[in-house]
Order: sequence, then C-alpha cells, then structure tokens
Amino acid sequence: MIEDQLTEDDVLLPTYGPRPVTFTSGAGSWLTATDGGRYLDFLCGLAVTGLGHAHPVVTQAVADQAARLTHTSNLFGTRPVLELADRLRRTLGWDDGRAFFCNSGAEANEAALKLARRHGKHADPQKVHVVALDKGFHGRLMGALKLTGNPAKHAPFEPLGTWATHVPADDPDAIAAAVDDRTCAVWLEVVQGEGGVRPLSEEVLAAARAACDDHDALLVVDEVQTGVGRLGEWYGWQTTTVEPDVVCLAKGLANGLPIGAIVARGVAAKAFQLGDHATTFGGGPVVCAAANAVLDTIESDGLLAHTRAMGSRLAAGLEALAADSPLVTGQRGRGLLRAMTLSGDFAPAVADAALRHHLVVNAVAPDAVRLAPPLNVTPDEVDEALSRLRAAVADVASPTGASPTGASPTGAAPAETDGR
Ligand SMILES: Cc1ncc(COP(=O)(O)O)c(C=O)c1O
Repeated sequence: MIEDQLTEDDVLLPTYGPRPVTFTSGAGSWLTATDGGRYLDFLCGLAVTGLGHAHPVVTQAVADQAARLTHTSNLFGTRPVLELADRLRRTLGWDDGRAFFCNSGAEANEAALKLARRHGKHADPQKVHVVALDKGFHGRLMGALKLTGNPAKHAPFEPLGTWATHVPADDPDAIAAAVDDRTCAVWLEVVQGEGGVRPLSEEVLAAARAACDDHDALLVVDEVQTGVGRLGEWYGWQTTTVEPDVVCLAKGLANGLPIGAIVARGVAAKAFQLGDHATTFGGGPVVCAAANAVLDTIESDGLLAHTRAMGSRLAAGLEALAADSPLVTGQRGRGLLRAMTLSGDFAPAVADAALRHHLVVNAVAPDAVRLAPPLNVTPDEVDEALSRLRAAVADVASPTGASPTGASPTGAAPAETDGR
C-alpha cells in the first residue's frame, strides 16, 4: 500500500512539527500505537476527550444517530441540537440562555465576537472595541487570533486591525482603565490554558465584571478549554464568583468530534438578528448526539465531583514531586487542568522523556508541562502517571538523560513548546 510509505511531509502543509508516535486505537485513558505500545493519555488530544477514548455511550450515540440522520443544514430542525441547547442552558443555570453551534473553539470565539459587535452597535456604531488579556488564547482564525494575547502569533498575519487591546492578566486596575464606552466586550479565560494553565485571580475577574457593568459591555468567558467539567464544575466560571454574559465552548463538548458553541444570556441573547450569522455544518445531529451523551454521562457518573477528587490527588502528587526534585517547583491549575511547573525551560525535554515512558503530556510553556487526563481517570491511573512523570523528570535531571530535542537543565538547546 502506497499510504504506508507516506510521511506527513509528503502530503500535509508544514504547520506542525514531526509527530513522534502514530496511534491506531484508544480505550479509556489509554492509547495504542502502531507498534502495539500502550500509552497513558494525560493530554486527551488537547483537553478534548474528557470521557476517554472510545467511550461506549458516546460511540453508541454517534452510531445510532449516523444510522438515522447525519445532516440537514440549519434550514431544517433536528432533535439533538434542541436537546443540546436545552442541556447547556440547564447546566449553565441560564433559563434565558440561547445557543449558536459551530465546529471549533476558534469559530465559537468568532461567533461571540460578531455577537459582541452587534450588542455594541445597537447602542453606538463606534462601540466595537474589545479588551482581552495578555497570554489569553482564543484560536487561529483572524478575529480569534486578534483576541489572542500573543504578539508573536499576530506578526506574520498583520494587519489584524486595531479593535482589540490587551492588558496584563494579573492587573485589575489595567482592565478598569482599558474599558470605556466604546468597549463592546471583555474577553477572558478563567484559567488561561494555552497561556500556561494560569488561573486568573478573583480580583481580575471581579474587575472585568464591574467594568462591563459600568460600560454596557459583555463579559465573554472563553470556556473552550475549561468548560464541560474540566475544572470540576460544569463551567470554569462556576468555580469563581463572577458570571459571564456569553460563554464559548468546544473541546470537551463532544469528546473529540468537532463542535463549538456559544451560549448567551440576558441582553446578549438578544443581540443577533435573523441572518447575522450562519454555518453549514454547525449543530449537526451527529455531533450534537455525541455532546448529549457526554453531558448525560458526566451527570450520571458523578464526574464533576470525581474530577475535583482526582484533581486534588494529581495536585498532591505533583507537590510531592516538587518536594523531591529541584527541577520541579510545584503545580497550578484547577480540577483536571494542571501544569507541573519547572525551575527552568525544561518542559519540552520532560514531555519528550514522559513519552519515552509511554505517558502523553505536553509542554504548554517552556517551563510548564500540562496534564489534562480524562474526567473519569481512575486513582490508579493518576498514581501511574505520577510515577511515569517522576521517572521522566529524573531522566532530564540526570546529565545523560536530557532529550536531544529539548532543553536540558545543563544544556543550552532552545525550548520549543507545542506552538499553539
Ligand atoms: C481557550 C481556547 N479558546 C479557543 C481555542 C481554539 O480552539 P480550536 O483549536 O478548536 O479552534 C482553544 C484551543 O486551544 C482554547 O484553548
């Protein structure tokens, strides 16, 4: 078969680095590679497969729906999308919540951006500015990219416009100062995922909410990574004291099938009018059936409380590792979205070493390794991951153990993260 000889370089645009392993199947927290090796998956794609691989309830829901009806466009109705919208607003606690479905996290942010502009422009044609945070990540499409607080990712694609301002993510006063009557929205993640798994402080969240209230702007919380149980509540904002007007969802919602969503409440739910936004595939019955199965399972299996318990176990294990290894300084995060923090830019080397120990994690920052296991991970799997991580850290700490592809504590190799 010619396909067996093909490499990514032969057929794909060069947007990703070399893939170190090719996987052929998965079950629960485990992946199987082409050589039969089994890997403990503490990354879940990129915090996506929250119920683990090939979850039987999701698989059955997808198979049943695919056999019944796959696509109608949004010109016609289907039951799964209505059920999903209703489930989302119940889990959000928003009786007046209204959803729009799309296909990815970036698309969800783009939809929320158009909604925020419409909200602003109903009041004033100039009210189109957005205040977002340094190190925030909102996707790679042009609007979402502009919202993303990483100038290096902007540079190759400038000009992206002047409608978004970024302020430091730890400075409540900077938010208050940046928001004015031309602001239609403030944009943030309650835990900055791609920015290094950094929880925002309550002060920053409260300042964002107050600034929005003072200037009739929408508070948009990007829950693409933090939503659907990952932090141990349905949505990340529910672990804080602040309530948004709009949430963006994607990643964990359909356990790996492509889906994105926004849900708006109150005045935000009234901003779009007929024809303001549309998508061919968004809200399709198969992905919505998968998402309904995901939300059902999180509820029926008590996975929010389980996520909190497993998150605490993981955090305690990481703290113990920090006590034993000078390379590890501690951990941060919430629920089952955690970063193991390091004393230098060794994260790529640690992630490479972990992979050699058949543990999948990633370098979310030069000095931080991200762990995002399935919400239904078992205590034994958490302990197993911690022991593999300990071995990986020991490999990097020993002079002969450093990965040739990443930075070592003694060497000067450049630290590359996954380039999100
Ligand atoms: C918070 C957040 N928003 C948006 C995105 C973009 O999602 P997607 O890659 O599905 O476009 C991501 C992806 O990592 C994310 O973490």
